[in-house]
Amino acid sequence: MKHWTPEDIPWDSFDPSRVNGDILKIVKAASLVEGNGRDYARYLCNVFDDDPEFQEAVRAWAEEEVQHGDVLGRWAELADAEFDFSACLKRFTDGFKLPLEATSSVRGSRAGELVARCIVEVGTSAHYSALAGATDEPVLKEICKRIAADELRHYKLFYTHLRRYLDREGLGVLGRLRVALGRITESEDDELAYAYYAANGGGEPYDRKRNIRAYVHKAYPYYRPDVIRRSVAMTLKATGLKPNGRLSRILAGLAWRFMAHRQRRLAQTSG
Ligand SMILES: [Fe+2]
Ligand SMILES: [Fe+2]
Repeated sequence: MKHWTPEDIPWDSFDPSRVNGDILKIVKAASLVEGNGRDYARYLCNVFDDDPEFQEAVRAWAEEEVQHGDVLGRWAELADAEFDFSACLKRFTDGFKLPLEATSSVRGSRAGELVARCIVEVGTSAHYSALAGATDEPVLKEICKRIAADELRHYKLFYTHLRRYLDREGLGVLGRLRVALGRITESEDDELAYAYYAANGGGEPYDRKRNIRAYVHKAYPYYRPDVIRRSVAMTLKATGLKPNGRLSRILAGLAWRFMAHRQRRLAQTSG
C-alpha cells in the first residue's frame, strides 16, 4: 500500500525562481532510475521464485519506486518546459539493461541480494534527505521529504527479509561486507552515469566517466554529516556490525572526507 499519492503534493506552490540548475539535473537523472523500478521487481521475482510473500512485497515496493520517478519527472517538467520525462525514460531504458532473465542473484545468494538491496535504499534515503535539505523550492522539498521516508521504509523491508534469509543461508559478516562494499563501489557504474546522460546529455555520445563526474560534482556538496552518519550506521547494521559504535564514527568521518576530497578534485573538470 502506497503511503501517499501525487495528489498529496502541493503542486500549486511551485516557485520557478527557487529552482537550482544543478539540483534540476540531479532530479532529472533520479527520475529515470526510479522509473525503472518494475524491471528490478521482475529480476527480484525471478531470483526469489518460490517466495510469494517476498514477491508480493517487491511488487508493491516497485510501484512506490515508479511513483517516485513519476513525481520527480513531473516536477522536472514544471521546472524545465523542454524536459520530456517519458522520452528520456525511454532513452534510459533502451540503453541500460538489467539482467532480467537471471534466475539466481548476481550477488551469489539471496541473502547477498538482500544486503545489496539494503545498500541501495541507504543510498537513496541519503540522496533524498540531502536534496530535501538543499533545495529552497517548496514543492521539491516536500517531494524529497516524502520519498526519503519511503526509502527508509524500503530499507526496513529488505532488512526484515534479510534476517529471514540469514537464518537459512548463514551468510557471515565478511560475506555481507563483501557484497555491501561491492554495491557501494558500483554506485559510480553505468546506471547512474547513463541516467544522468539520458536526462541531461544533449546530443553528445555517452561517456561514463564524464557523466558520473558531472553527477558527483553536483550531488556530493549536498550531503551533510548527519546524513552520512546515518548512512554508515544503516550500512553496518545490514552487514551485521554494530551500527553506532566507534567503527561507525570512524567510517563516517572517512566517508565525509572522501566525498569532500572527490568533490574538490572534480570541481575543475566537470560541467
Ligand atoms: Fe525511490
Ligand atoms: Fe527505495
